[in-house]
Amino acid sequence: MTLRIGMIGTGWFSRKHAEYLSEMNGVKVQAICGTSMEKAATMAADFQGSQGYDDFKRMLDSEKLDAVYICVPPMAHGQIELELIERNIPFLVEKPLGIDIETPKKILTRLEKSSLLTAVGYHFRYKQSVQRLKKAVNSTTLGMVSGYWMGQMPEIAWWRKQEGSGGQFIEQTTHIVDVLRYVAGEVDEVYANYSNRVNHMKYEQVTVADVGAVSLKMKSGVVATISNTCILPEGVNKVGMTFYTDQNMIEWHPDRIQIKDTSGSIMEELKMDNPYISESEAFLHAVRTGDASQILSDYQDAYQTQLVTCAALESALKGVPVKVK
Ligand SMILES: NC(=O)c1ccc[n+]([C@@H]2O[C@H](COP(=O)([O-])OP(=O)(O)OC[C@H]3O[C@@H](n4cnc5c(N)ncnc54)[C@H](O)[C@@H]3O)[C@@H](O)[C@H]2O)c1
Repeated sequence: MTLRIGMIGTGWFSRKHAEYLSEMNGVKVQAICGTSMEKAATMAADFQGSQGYDDFKRMLDSEKLDAVYICVPPMAHGQIELELIERNIPFLVEKPLGIDIETPKKILTRLEKSSLLTAVGYHFRYKQSVQRLKKAVNSTTLGMVSGYWMGQMPEIAWWRKQEGSGGQFIEQTTHIVDVLRYVAGEVDEVYANYSNRVNHMKYEQVTVADVGAVSLKMKSGVVATISNTCILPEGVNKVGMTFYTDQNMIEWHPDRIQIKDTSGSIMEELKMDNPYISESEAFLHAVRTGDASQILSDYQDAYQTQLVTCAALESALKGVPVKVK
């Protein structure tokens, strides 16, 4: 049976997902919805046999879709998910779930009354390096973690506006928060300091903070810090985490892991894997068979990550620690 997929969004990541999907057996990119007919038709022309739409409800009325990929900016979530739940159409939604808690909470409440399959684009969970990390940390007593996402501000206009992206910690560094939760459990409380140092003076209409340091108290007693910046010059980046345990120190980067213990230092270069393909395969396997066991991040789980990143924003704005609830 060929699965018919609808794409919502015609930007960078919708194209990426559609490219991977169109190379899979038994999967067809059937319909593409954009904010204009022109954008939708342009993208549809690149995926043979697909149809463009400029209204997602019309797309859902006109096509019989087995699943939908939602690849829109953080501020555009809400109606799309609610409509898909109403129509009982499984969806994979890109992270983050929104710019705040209100909209994801509404969606979660509706999802809890259904048994609809969902997946969220926290793709690092599907990487070999994260699976290796989880296994390595599990056989130790973890003390503390430091994580970071240091880089540049993306060119896209919505990213620079607080009301468009939610800011770097909610939009980007959310991946690090999600890996932390996946490996080390739930977060109890956060205290954040954000500042605008450079970008608002260099570029027009920048309202997101460009440096931030967040201290996290985990329910297990583990303490963590996660920092981020988007002021670095092009090509200067650092993304990763360090785990400090009673037996070793583990440096994790998306494509490699280094474990240092008393016997020396072991660097494990892992083979380059494509987590976006594994993520889609897990989701589509669930759509085909009803077996959701391979989905490593669903809406309910991703909501917990959203709670942490939004609590950090609240803490930065209020200047006080905030409980994650
Ligand atoms: N998991 C990852 O590694 C990863 C990587 C890149 C992007 N993303 C996420 O994917 C999402 C989209 O990012 P992008 O880079 O593709 O952005 P983009 O700006 O390139 O594309 C967004 C698209 O959504 C469209 N859009 C906006 N509102 C819409 C609506 N209501 N209906 C239909 N289309 C709408 C825009 O016109 C645009 O085509 C973001 O949340 C981003 O964080 C995830």
